Amino acid sequence: MRPSVEPLFTSFEYGNLSLANRFVMSPMTRNFSPDGVPGDNVASYYTRRATAKTGLIITEGIGVNHPSAIGHSTMGEENIPVLHGEAALAGWRKVIDDVHSEGGKIIPQLWHMGGARLEGTPPHPETKSMRPDDMSEDEIAEIIAAFVSSAANAKAIGFDGVALHGGHGYLIDAFLWKQTNRRDDAWGGDIKRRTRFASELVKAIRAEVGPDFPILFRLSQWKMQDYEAKLAETPDELAIITGTLVEAGVDIFDVSTRVFSVPAFVGSNMGLAGWVRKLSGKPVMTVGGIGFDKELAASFAEPTSALDNLDEVVRRFEAEEFDLVALGRALLMDPEWVLKVQAGEPFEAFDLSAYSRLD
Ligand SMILES: Cc1cc2nc3c(=O)[nH]c(=O)nc-3n(C[C@H](O)[C@H](O)[C@H](O)COP(=O)(O)O)c2cc1C
Repeated sequence: MRPSVEPLFTSFEYGNLSLANRFVMSPMTRNFSPDGVPGDNVASYYTRRATAKTGLIITEGIGVNHPSAIGHSTMGEENIPVLHGEAALAGWRKVIDDVHSEGGKIIPQLWHMGGARLEGTPPHPETKSMRPDDMSEDEIAEIIAAFVSSAANAKAIGFDGVALHGGHGYLIDAFLWKQTNRRDDAWGGDIKRRTRFASELVKAIRAEVGPDFPILFRLSQWKMQDYEAKLAETPDELAIITGTLVEAGVDIFDVSTRVFSVPAFVGSNMGLAGWVRKLSGKPVMTVGGIGFDKELAASFAEPTSALDNLDEVVRRFEAEEFDLVALGRALLMDPEWVLKVQAGEPFEAFDLSAYSRLD
C-alpha cells in the first residue's frame, strides 16, 4: 500500500451506511438504458468498479416517476434509466445484487432535469418541461410525489440510500438559484424560500423512507448554463441552505465542484466541501478534478493528462474538509483506479472515447 493514501482506505460509518473506504463513484449519465431499463451491461459496468474496491457507487442520474423528469438536453441525453415499472426495477435489482455480492454499496441518483429538458423530446414528448417560474402548486406537489415514489422504490429493491441531484441547474437547483427562480411566493423570493422546494422534497422522502435510510444531497455553485454562477455569495447564505436541508433530513452532502481544491470564498483557502461540512455538521463528499490536470469541461476541448494530486486530497481530508472522495472521469476511464491508488501505480490520461463505451 502506498503509505500516504492510507487515511482514504479507512472505513466510513454513518447510521447503517457502512463503507469499506472513502472512494465514491460520482454519478455519471451514460445513456445505455433503452426504454429506461438498465440491462446486464449496466450491471457489469457498476460491478466492475465495486470489485475493484470503489467503496460506494452513486448511479448515473435516474429519471423520477414523472413524465417531465427526463428527455433530451443540449448534452444530447437519451436512454436514461428510470426507477419505476417492472422491467426497470428488475434491471436495478440485478445491479444491486451484483454490486452487493462484491462487497460494494450503491445509491441511485434521483434526477429531474427541469428546464434543461428540451420541449417535445422523448420519452414523453407531449409533456411540458418544468421551470420554477411557471409551475403551479399542483405541479409542485406532483413532482414531490414523483421523487417520493422513486425513493420508496429505491428502498424497496435494496439500494443503500438515495441521492438527490440538487445541482448543476436542474430542477431542484433551479429553485435554489435566484436567476432561475423569480417567484415571489412561498417557493421563491429570499434564499430561505428558494430552499423550500428542496427541503419539502427531502422532508417528504424522509417521511416515506424512515429515519435510517441515508439521504444524500448534491449541490453546486456552478450551473450547466453558467460556470461562474453562485448559489451562495457568502458562507452565511450557504448556511441558510445547508441548515434548512439538514433540518429537513439530509444525511450527507455531495458537494459538486469542478476542481475540489479551489477556495470557495475570499479570505480562506477552504474548498466548498469544507465549508458545507463546517456549516452543516454533516459528512460531505468532495469531487472535481481528482486524477487529472484538467477539469471536466476543459477535458472536452483539450488533451487531459493524468495527474497524481492525491497528496492534496489527503491533506484536505486530514484537515477535515471532507469525509468522502468522489471520482467521475477517473472511474469512467479505469474501473481499477482505486486499486491503482492503493498500489501506487500510475493513472491513465483521459480519453474521450470513454464516453461512448460501457466497460
Ligand atoms: C459522462 C459524465 C456524465 C455525468 N453525469 C452526471 C449526472 O448524471 N449527475 C451528476 O450529478 N453529475 C454528473 N456528472 C458530473 C460528475 O458526477 C462529476 O461531478 C464531474 O465529472 C467532476 O468529477 P471528475 O473531475 O472526477 O470527472 C457527469 C460527468 C461525466 C464525465
